[in-house]
Amino acid sequence: MAAFRYEDALTPTPPPGFLEARNRRQKARAAGLHPDYWYPVAHSNKLKPGKAMGTRFWGRPIAVYRDQKGIVHAMEDRCAHRQLKLSQGEVKGCNLVCQYHGWEYGCDGKVIAIPHELFGKPFPKLSVPSFPVQERYGHIWVFPGDPALAKKRPLPEIPELEGKNRWGIILLDGVWKAHHTMLMENICDFTHGYLHRDYRPFWDPKLTKYETVGDKVYVSYDTKVGAGKIFRRFVDDRKVNANHMDLCFDYPFQWSNTDNKIKSYCFLLPQDEQTTHGFFIFYFQSLKLPFLPMTMPPWLLDRVLKIAKRLFVQPVIDQDGWAVELEQEGYNRFSDLPVAEFSPVVSMFQQLTIRKWEEYLATRNVVPQPTLGASA
Ligand code: FES
Ligand SMILES: [Fe+2]
Repeated sequence: MAAFRYEDALTPTPPPGFLEARNRRQKARAAGLHPDYWYPVAHSNKLKPGKAMGTRFWGRPIAVYRDQKGIVHAMEDRCAHRQLKLSQGEVKGCNLVCQYHGWEYGCDGKVIAIPHELFGKPFPKLSVPSFPVQERYGHIWVFPGDPALAKKRPLPEIPELEGKNRWGIILLDGVWKAHHTMLMENICDFTHGYLHRDYRPFWDPKLTKYETVGDKVYVSYDTKVGAGKIFRRFVDDRKVNANHMDLCFDYPFQWSNTDNKIKSYCFLLPQDEQTTHGFFIFYFQSLKLPFLPMTMPPWLLDRVLKIAKRLFVQPVIDQDGWAVELEQEGYNRFSDLPVAEFSPVVSMFQQLTIRKWEEYLATRNVVPQPTLGASA
């Protein structure tokens, strides 16, 4: 183990990239997420007709815009002329116009109009790549990988979020300066209950199961779900067994399930190696009226969940965000030091992330170095 060297403190060695990484943790912290899946980029209501926005998938810039008819499109966020961000452009009908010289793009990314003189040259056949897009569950989803695979990789079916019997929902998102594996480990590894000791979204967890099956890691805990002073008054103990939770890293996203009555999904958009946009969906079949043996009517459920989001859920997620950003800072400075990791699920998440990233690299004929031993 390398000893701390004061002379290196001001210029720490940056963490290795995926191809140079020699142990599991370093590989996991440098791995991307496989692009051949759907990733959320924004809540639907954040993008109004006639507006454009920019995001990134693993460093690749993506412009997303909603045309005047309400349909959402996505293309690489760079003008084919001088690479300005198209997301800074203007929506014109169904097209996107670059702000600088006014080149106009159809929704398939093709340049279809140039408003200035061409000096006798023919109209250029230029385009930028476009991406499959869909809207569902209140989110805009983009498929950043091979477009031919978009239809073969459907979104998870979540019937509780649709139709007239839809459950009460809390939607929440945030951008954190941390690698996506740090977020995934945070939401599945409950050893960090201490961080949430004031809110107790889970309490006194005992890991009862952990198993990798294909591209999924299943984890179960016996734990008190929603054990905080206020929230537990809303959970109906007669109808919900809130002493157990199943979770799954269902690559590339995560879900949780408490007795088929309280569920969640978390989708991660890896913008780059140290920036992750997390999207959370928490949904509840019902809650009860505090101190009364009565189920809340649906109209009240939505209102109560709005308050719960502000008073309980958002603060808990903020605590997690604070912790993972500090973890990233620590990793940036001490990436070659060993970590005393006790939870067996962490290494399973890392193994799955690495395997899927190697699977992607293999399609690009990139062969990384073998991993040496266990995580250091
Ligand atoms: S840079 Fe976009 S039109 Fe010139
Ligand atoms: Fe947490």
